[in-house]
Amino acid sequence: MKKFFSVADVENLSLIVKEALEQKNNPHANEQLGKHKMMGFVFLNPSLRTRLSTQKAAMNLGMNVMVMNMDKDGWALETQDGVMMNGTTVEHIREAAAVMGEYCDILGLRCFPGLKDKEVDYSEDLFSKFAKYCNKPIVSLESATRHPLQSLTDLITIIEHSDYSFYENNQQFVANGKKPKVVLTWAPHVKALPQAVPNSFSEWMCKAQAQGLIDFVIAQPKGYELNPDFTLGATIEYDQKAAFEGADFIYAKNWSSYADYGAMPAVEGQWMPTLASLENTNDAKVMHCLPVRRDLELGSDILDSERSLVVKEASNRVWAAQVVIKRILEANK
Ligand code: CP
Repeated sequence: MKKFFSVADVENLSLIVKEALEQKNNPHANEQLGKHKMMGFVFLNPSLRTRLSTQKAAMNLGMNVMVMNMDKDGWALETQDGVMMNGTTVEHIREAAAVMGEYCDILGLRCFPGLKDKEVDYSEDLFSKFAKYCNKPIVSLESATRHPLQSLTDLITIIEHSDYSFYENNQQFVANGKKPKVVLTWAPHVKALPQAVPNSFSEWMCKAQAQGLIDFVIAQPKGYELNPDFTLGATIEYDQKAAFEGADFIYAKNWSSYADYGAMPAVEGQWMPTLASLENTNDAKVMHCLPVRRDLELGSDILDSERSLVVKEASNRVWAAQVVIKRILEANK
């Protein structure tokens, strides 16, 4: 693996989940792999889980880590080419990324979208430029349109909390009974949020569905359709109750409109999952990437119950990051 930006960087989802669970069972088995290597973390936006879990993963592999909070501690970054820098920006991404690449063997970058210009955000201009100019393997810590470490974590968590066997002959997990039904549901929020987490979750789940691991449904109000490039193969429902019927996993997340980019179209009815709304599920477990706004996005009756997987899910962020960094180190020995 040379980089980690999307599900396209992983061929066999079963194999990477199996490898991640092996890391979980034996976190220090590969502590020589990253010895005398440096992983640099560049944050243009806040983070709790990604920041800590990915550092822990790198350290489990024997790496040293450096964190640059570019938004707070860095020089104001210019990302456009061909401009005279006579305004507020102080350093160009060409030099900044290249210098950080000199100090590090692997770099991780978090850069959220502006949510103002769809074309700019969906071009992933900032991530692509940083990847090009740092000249080192790069791991997305969430970009404008995707959050792949979160989505890999989510798949690990779903497989771990279901009944599967791994078959060595075809290198696949196979459900021992019915394949789990996984539902991504839109949930309310007070401000417009990016589509990165639901886009990414959807593209990982669509691939998991195509590889025979799960059945995937998206429940959303009208006006909140995601970019169809990310939902190929998903069943789309506009009735949350119908979508939840027989579900094994509910993944709650807010996102803003893709069509009316960054807007929050008015929504009718109750979309915040509560214990009562899980009545017709198959005792569904509930997931969320966190941070979550209690009793706005997700009911605290769920969060405080056995149905919630949110903390176990956050804990698995370490193993998703560790398998990705391990694969990159192995490919760049
Ligand atoms: N889920 C997630 O990425 O959390 P942070 O934003 O805190 O890193």
